[in-house]
Amino acid sequence: MKRVLITGGAGFIGSHVVRLFVNKYPGYHIYNLDTLTYAGNLENLKDIEQKKNYSFLKADINDVEEMDKLFQTHQFDGVIHLAAESHVDRSITDPLAFVKTNVLGTLSLLEAAKKQWQSDFSGKRFYHISTDEVYGTLGETGLFTEATNYDPNSPYSASKASSDHFVRAYGETYGLPYVISNCSNNYGPNQFPEKLIPLFINNITHKQALPVYGDGNYTRDWLYVIDHAVAIDLIFQQGKNRETYNIGGFNEWKNIDLVKLLCQKMDEKLGRAAGESEQLITFVKDRPGHDLRYAIDASKIYRELGWKPSVTFEEGLVKTIDWYLEHETWLKNVTSGDYQKYYQKQYK
Ligand code: NAD
Ligand code: TYD
Repeated sequence: MKRVLITGGAGFIGSHVVRLFVNKYPGYHIYNLDTLTYAGNLENLKDIEQKKNYSFLKADINDVEEMDKLFQTHQFDGVIHLAAESHVDRSITDPLAFVKTNVLGTLSLLEAAKKQWQSDFSGKRFYHISTDEVYGTLGETGLFTEATNYDPNSPYSASKASSDHFVRAYGETYGLPYVISNCSNNYGPNQFPEKLIPLFINNITHKQALPVYGDGNYTRDWLYVIDHAVAIDLIFQQGKNRETYNIGGFNEWKNIDLVKLLCQKMDEKLGRAAGESEQLITFVKDRPGHDLRYAIDASKIYRELGWKPSVTFEEGLVKTIDWYLEHETWLKNVTSGDYQKYYQKQYK
């Protein structure tokens, strides 16, 4: 039996990865380690929590001794590390929290893995889930490849870049077997409504303003979260040791065009007049250090691992809207309490 540690499994992407592994690999034991910050929610995993090959470990990756103890107790063979502070706007107001979890937390996992595995690294793998934001920003043309230099602009992307460097350094210095993937913006069910798409779905539903930063002419490359989870599985199983894989949907959207499409689809779903939700668009003060454009060249993972996205953007967006409209209680629960304080501080 393989024992796989997935960190951040109660979060957005992590919960989809945990579900995929628990269902697909009955012969593995999947340990979901999460400290349950505002972004972690065990509701995301209700359907698999009773499975015999699944355990939840409530722990903080910043706790060096605890990570060491858990590695000793459970003898993990593989780590898929997603736990992180993940929202750029929060990194602008509280950069230290990002350095703590994303850099030091990753280091405490690396230390625990090194200590546990160093007598025999065979069959072991440390997989760091990273972001395309480490590459900085593109102009109007070009794509990020695996060879693009790191050039992060936000405290979030700087912290992810730093953790990527540490993972590589552990590979070079100690021989730790690792793999890294850098993915573009994800969307889909279970995403915390601080990120663009779920925030705007929630606001459209409640006829609240849609705060578009700057002129809205910023471009992101969007990928459906389940396609990311499938790519993570492929890379974990078949990716080459010490390599990086870029993951993206060849699916670039200017924010303003995406928001208009979302408004149109929501009007159809909610039975509103065409153009009604677009009236909610409000251009607000820009995000400082706002990266103009992200776009991924995902040809390596297409070519080497045979991966490609399974849904078009319109299909994924409609699935996402349906999920949020069908999960009103989930949304209500995560937007009560501290969310309101965050919202007031960020947008008022
Ligand atoms: P998320 O914010 O939804 O979830 C993060 C999870 O990590 C939460 O469950 C949280 O409780 C947990 N966590 C945070 N700090 C922790 C700590 N100290 N100890 C243990 N658990 C902790 O994030 P997400 O959007 O699912 O992103 C997951 C990973 O994927 C991150 O590493 C992120 O950088 C990366 N990524 C995200 C995107 C995206 O578009 N969301 C794109 C590319 C890469
Ligand atoms: P976000 O979902 O925060 O992801 P990231 O910053 O990691 O790309 O934002 C996606 C884009 O949407 C980004 O260009 C910022 C913009 N945006 C807004 O215009 N308004 C908002 O309220 C939010 C949260 C984001």
